[in-house]
Amino acid sequence: MKLWGGRFTKATNELVHNFNASISFDQKFYKEDIEGSIAHVTMLAKQQIITNEDKETIIIGLKGILKDIETGKLEIDGTYEDIHSFVEAHLIERIGEAGKKLHTGRSRNDQVALDMKLYTRREILEMDELLKNLLKSLLKIIKENTDTIMPGFTHLQKAQPVTLAHHMGAYFEMFKRDRSRLTDIYNRMNCCPLGSGALAGTTYPLDREYTASLLGFAGPTLNSMDGVSDRDYLIEFSAAMSIIMMHLSRFCEEITIWNSNEYQFIDIDDSYSTGSSIMPQKKNPDIAELVRGKTGRVYGTVMSLLTTMKGLSLAYNKDMQEDKELVFDAIDTTKGCILLFNGMLDTLKFNKNQMRKSAEGGFTNATDAADYLVNHGVPFRDAHGIIGKLVLYCINSNKSLSELSLSEYKAINPIFEEDIYSAVSMETCVEKRNTIGAPGPKAMEEVIVLYEKYLESN
Ligand code: ARG
Repeated sequence: MKLWGGRFTKATNELVHNFNASISFDQKFYKEDIEGSIAHVTMLAKQQIITNEDKETIIIGLKGILKDIETGKLEIDGTYEDIHSFVEAHLIERIGEAGKKLHTGRSRNDQVALDMKLYTRREILEMDELLKNLLKSLLKIIKENTDTIMPGFTHLQKAQPVTLAHHMGAYFEMFKRDRSRLTDIYNRMNCCPLGSGALAGTTYPLDREYTASLLGFAGPTLNSMDGVSDRDYLIEFSAAMSIIMMHLSRFCEEITIWNSNEYQFIDIDDSYSTGSSIMPQKKNPDIAELVRGKTGRVYGTVMSLLTTMKGLSLAYNKDMQEDKELVFDAIDTTKGCILLFNGMLDTLKFNKNQMRKSAEGGFTNATDAADYLVNHGVPFRDAHGIIGKLVLYCINSNKSLSELSLSEYKAINPIFEEDIYSAVSMETCVEKRNTIGAPGPKAMEEVIVLYEKYLESN
C-alpha cells in the first residue's frame, strides 16, 4: 500500500520507487514511529478529533504490530516506501476503517522529524552511559597510579616526569567534556515537532503541549516550518561524536605507541589483540588501530550533513532523507568504539618499571635542575644555560643527571651541592608539582575527590 497515488494515472517506475524508498534504513526506528503514533492518537481522542473507541482500537493495533515485529512474527517488508507506510498499511489491514484515521492532522514530514528526534534522544542517553562507564574505568586506573611515574611528552619527546594517573586524567577531562556536550545537545533538541504538519501546522485543534509531554519533550517546537526542517541537532550530534572519536583516536595512538617494542609501557590483553597470518611472533594492537581508523567515517558524517543541508529552501525537502544512514552509521560506530575501547582499557597491563625507567632517561628532570639553581639565587635564564651545558656533558658521557658525581656537577658550576640528587629525583620532580591540575600526588588526590563527586551526581 502507498500513502499517496490518487492524483496519479501511471504506476511509479520501479527504479524511481527504489531510489525514493527509505524503508531499508528507516525501519531502524519502527519503535519510535509506533510510540509517536500512539501519542498522536491519544491526543486526537482527547481533542475529540477521533472517538475514544477508534483511539483504543488503533492503539491495540499499533501495540500488536510492535509486538509482532519484536518477536519476529512480522517481518518489515522492503517493498514499502518507508516505515511510516509499512506501519499504517499493517494497521489498516488489521483493524480496518479506524486505522485510516491514524494520520489525521499529521504529515510524514512532522512524523519523520519526530521519529528521528526520538531515536536520537535515546541514542544520546545510551552513548552518555557508555562514556560514563569509560570514565569509571579511567578513574580506577587514576586512583591506582598516583605515584606511577612516567615521562610526559611534548612533540613526542620526553619532556617532564608525570604520573600515569595524571596522564589518564587528561582523558578523563576530555570524555567529561564530551558528556556535557551531549547533555547540551539533548536539552536544545528536546522539543517536539509533532503537529507541525507538512509545514504550516494543521486546521485541527491539536494539543501540541499534550503530545510533547506524552513523549517526554520539554514542549512543542514554536515554528512549524522549522519543526519539519530542522536537522541542526543531527549536525551537532555528529560533531560531538566526531570529537569523541578524535579523543578515542588520540588515546588509541598512544596505546599503539606504548605497545610498541620500543616503548613496552603496556601489554594489551590477549583477548583484545590480534595476530599475524605470517609472522608468528606478532601480537598487534588492531583494536586501537581500528578505532583510530573509524574516526574518519564519523568526521565524514558532519561534512556530508552540512553539505546536504546547505542551500535548502524552507521547509521540508526530500534531500533531508539523507540524514539517516549517515547518522545511524556514526552512532553505531561511535558506540561500538567506546565499548570496545573500554574493554581494552579495562584489561590493559601497565609496565610500571618500564615507564619509570623511560622517565629517568631523556633528561625529564632538566627543568627541575634549573629550578634548583633558581632556588639558589641564579636567575632562571642563566640556570637554563648552565643546565643546557650539563645535559650536553651528560649526552657526551652517556650518563643521566642523577648519575653524575658531585665533582662533575661542580665542574660545570660550583653552586651545586649534595641536595641536587634529591632535587632531580623523579619523585621530587612529581611531588613538587602540586598546584591544582598538576601531577603531584596531593593535587591529584584533590582532583580524584572531585571526579568521584562528579560521577556520583552526573
Ligand atoms: N522518508 C522521508 C524522510 O526520511 C519521510 C518524509 C517523507 N515526506 C515527503 N514529503 N516525501 O525524509
